[in-house]
Amino acid sequence: MLNISRRRVLQTAIAITPGFLLAKMDTAQAFSLKDATSALGSLVDKSSAIKVGKTRIYSGQSSSGQQVEVVITRTKKGLFALNGACTHQGCGVSLQGTQLACPCHGSVFKADTGAVVNGPNGAPANSIAPLAKFKVTESKGNIYIK
Ligand code: FES
Repeated sequence: MLNISRRRVLQTAIAITPGFLLAKMDTAQAFSLKDATSALGSLVDKSSAIKVGKTRIYSGQSSSGQQVEVVITRTKKGLFALNGACTHQGCGVSLQGTQLACPCHGSVFKADTGAVVNGPNGAPANSIAPLAKFKVTESKGNIYIK
């Protein structure tokens, strides 16, 4: 089974490890929230994959089998994990510089906090909610979310 984000293209190798589906992708990696094997949640990636100032988008499945995209950003303040579904009508956001842009109606969010920078179709920032957050934890060189 292979998870492919509708906006992203599988680029190179596919590696299947017990309990997890990992697909090396252009700007995203796949994981599954179904396979949480730790009290910390689901393993997303190695800590070393996200250096300070870097944002990566991961694509996976929720425990109910729905596709979910998770945006993980590391700043000097720590790690942030956001649900990549735009809070306007649910389109998947993409990384645009240091911000997250929604391709459907142009909303823009901060990649670390998920705060709204611009609302849809030029509406003010307070017209929609910020991106939802996941709890993110690092342990023994790995990143987990739940
Ligand atoms: S769904 Fe993102 S701006 Fe409309």
